[in-house]
Amino acid sequence: MQCVYPLFPSCCIREPVITQQVAARAAQLQARALKELSDVPDAEGLEAWRVSYLGRKGEATLLKRSITEVPPESRREFGQAANAASEALASAFEARRTEIERPSGDDADAIDVTLPGVPSPIGSIHPITSTVREICAAFGDMGFEVVEGPEVELDHYNFEKLNIPKHHPARDSFNTLWVDKTGEDGERPLLLRTHTSPMQIRTMEKQDPPVRVIAPGKAYRYEATDATHEWHFSQVEGLAVDKGITFADLKGTLHEFARRLFGENVRVRFRCDYFPFVEPGAEMSIDWSSRSDNRGAKGEKQEENWMEILGAGMVHPKVLEGVGYDPAVYTGFAFGIGIERIAMLKHGIDDIRLFYSNDVRFLRQF
Ligand code: FA5
Repeated sequence: MQCVYPLFPSCCIREPVITQQVAARAAQLQARALKELSDVPDAEGLEAWRVSYLGRKGEATLLKRSITEVPPESRREFGQAANAASEALASAFEARRTEIERPSGDDADAIDVTLPGVPSPIGSIHPITSTVREICAAFGDMGFEVVEGPEVELDHYNFEKLNIPKHHPARDSFNTLWVDKTGEDGERPLLLRTHTSPMQIRTMEKQDPPVRVIAPGKAYRYEATDATHEWHFSQVEGLAVDKGITFADLKGTLHEFARRLFGENVRVRFRCDYFPFVEPGAEMSIDWSSRSDNRGAKGEKQEENWMEILGAGMVHPKVLEGVGYDPAVYTGFAFGIGIERIAMLKHGIDDIRLFYSNDVRFLRQF
C-alpha cells in the first residue's frame, strides 16, 4: 500500500523514526545553507541565497509548509525542528548582511584620531546683550550700581511720578501699549513700560541720596517698525543724585561713557530736548566721522555725521519732591540710552529689525 505521507515513506513504520528523519532533514538543510551563506561574497549573492532558502519558495519555507504531509502525531516535532532551522538561517542571514554592508578590512572599526572632529554648534552672546554688558561695565567703572525692575509697569511710575500727569501732551509721544487701561480699582492702570525711566522713581523711593544707578531693560511702544524703530527695544537708564551735582557732571559722565564705548577721540554734541521729568533736558549725539574707520572710499575723512543716542537732563525738582528728596539740598542728572542704536552704530548694522528676526546667519557674525 502506498504511504499517504510521501515525504516520510517510513512513517508507516513508527513515530520515533519519523521524528529522527525530520530532525536529520532540517539539520542537513541548515548545515548546507549556512555553508553556502559563508561563501556568499556580496549583496547580490546574499539576495540570491535568501530567495533560495528563505524566500516564498525557498527550501526552509517549503520544509515548514510540508507539515501537511506529516502524520498528525508527528507534526509537533516536525514543526519545532523546521521552525528552528528556519530561524537559525534567518538570523545567520542578518549577521552576514551586516558583515557585507560594513566596509571590509582590519581598520574598518578603528577610529582615525587624525580626522577633524565634528564641530558641535555653540551659540554666542546676542549683540544687544553684549552691548548692554559693555555699557554696564563702562558705568560700573564710574561707580554706578546696576538695578532692574518690571516691564509690566504702573501708570503711576511710567508717567505720574515722572511729572507726566493724565492728559499731559507728552503722553502722546510715548505710544503706550496698555495691559489694563482702567486698572483693577480704576485708578492704577497697567502698561508695558514705554521707557526705563520708571526705575528712577523706584530707586529713589527705596533709598536716600547719594544715588548712582543704571537700569538696563526692555521698553515697549505702540509704533510702526522701520529700520530704526522697533515696537520693543532696550534702554539703559542712568540716575545720579547727590549734593552739588551739576549739568557739567552730566556732560562729563556721558562724554566719558562715549569715550569708553567708541574710543578716545569720539566727539559728542549736546542739544536741547524736552522731557517733563528733567529740567533742562538734552539729547546727546556722537559724530561718526571722527571714528578712524568712518572714512570714504579713498580713505578721506567724512563730513560730520551726528547720530542721537540718548535723552538726558537734570532731574526735575518736582520729581525729587515726589519721592521725598529735598530739591533745595539735592540735585541730580538722568539719562536714557537706546541700546539698539548703539549696537547698530558699533557693528555697522543698518536695520534694527535684524536684532530680533532670529536669523542665525546674522547672529553668527557676533
Ligand atoms: C526716553 O525714552 C526718555 N525716557 C529718556 C530720558 C531718560 C530722558 C532720562 C531724560 C532723562 P526717548 O523716547 O528719546 O526718551 O528714547 C531714548 C532713546 O531710546 C532714543 O534715543 C532711541 O535710541 C531709543 N528709542 C526710542 N524709541 C525707540 C524705538 N521705537 N525703537 C528703538 N529705539 C528707540
